Amino acid sequence: MDALPLSPIRTVDNAAIFRAAQCLRQGGLVAFPTETVYGLGADATNDQAVAGIFEVKGRPRFNPLIVHVLGTPEAERLVEFSWLAEKLAEGFWPGPLTLVLPRKPDCPISLLASAGLETVAVRSPTHPVARQLLAATSRPLAAPSANRSGRVSPTTADHVLQEFGEDVDVLLDGGATWLGMESTVIGFECDRAVLLRPGAVSRDEISEAIGTDLAASTQNRTGSPGQLKSHYAPQTQLRLNAHDIAVDEALLAFGPNVPAGANIVRNLSATADLKEAAANLFSMLRDLDRSGAARIAVVPIPTYGLGEAINDRLARAAAPRNGL
Ligand code: TXA
Ligand code: MG
Repeated sequence: MDALPLSPIRTVDNAAIFRAAQCLRQGGLVAFPTETVYGLGADATNDQAVAGIFEVKGRPRFNPLIVHVLGTPEAERLVEFSWLAEKLAEGFWPGPLTLVLPRKPDCPISLLASAGLETVAVRSPTHPVARQLLAATSRPLAAPSANRSGRVSPTTADHVLQEFGEDVDVLLDGGATWLGMESTVIGFECDRAVLLRPGAVSRDEISEAIGTDLAASTQNRTGSPGQLKSHYAPQTQLRLNAHDIAVDEALLAFGPNVPAGANIVRNLSATADLKEAAANLFSMLRDLDRSGAARIAVVPIPTYGLGEAINDRLARAAAPRNGL
């Protein structure tokens, strides 16, 4: 029998949460909103369920997943917190900050979820739907962004539907996510915090909270293992730092001065607000990708604050597709 097309649950009431939690406890896949982007969730302690995430996403096995928990007490059952990690959790949890910490010896998280690493990435989301789901499931939930591997992250339930159709068991529609940019991922090396992935919490906010600058990673890699050069990619080619726009190009603008010449324009933020731009980035890339333009021209975006994460995502979206 063919699988039925997935029908999103548009009203997320107690019954919907109960159904989703039951599905997760039985090893199913549930897509749900967080404050950053939609996640594709599975019980992080269930190897088969976690394998289902990799299968549906078409995700390289070496790319570990973020494990979502209600808060620090739940995370402390899984991983070892240093004083610095505690300070960051105090400052930013619940919220869009992921901490990569050593597994406890009796950590029940599937090794597949952390791609065989000795560390686990943990985060406590603020979104009420994500929190209700965590509370009802009483399990840590592995949840990468709910998009096929390498593609643009979803910020609405309809984006998830476009990505997965019937491959997800339950889709909870909590409306558009309000940050629109994934969490910042922080690792620790020699008792110092290291930025593994820029994201919704800016480098400056983190430095301020810990009283020092973030250290550069000394590992022989740039950033998180999942940080492939080509990622977050629309089908249409991107041209970055564009000042002049060709007639066959769609334009992704930023700020009040919009270059002339494009018929199809989306402005990340007419008032040059980087927070608004981060929230709009993925949905506007999706829109422009569907416009039929030959290329998407993107104006220069400032690099401070949330601009670091926006430029990181744009650079990956523009990178050659076969590049690692
Ligand atoms: O905002 C978010 O973080 C969203 C929502 C759904 O929570 N999730 C998300 O997950 O973006 P994902 O799987 O698309 O990205 C996880 C990132 C990857 O860059 C991965 O390499 C890194 O976290 N990561 C996970 N576990 C790690 C580990 N043990 N060591 C280093 N990096 C890790
Ligand atoms: Mg992702």
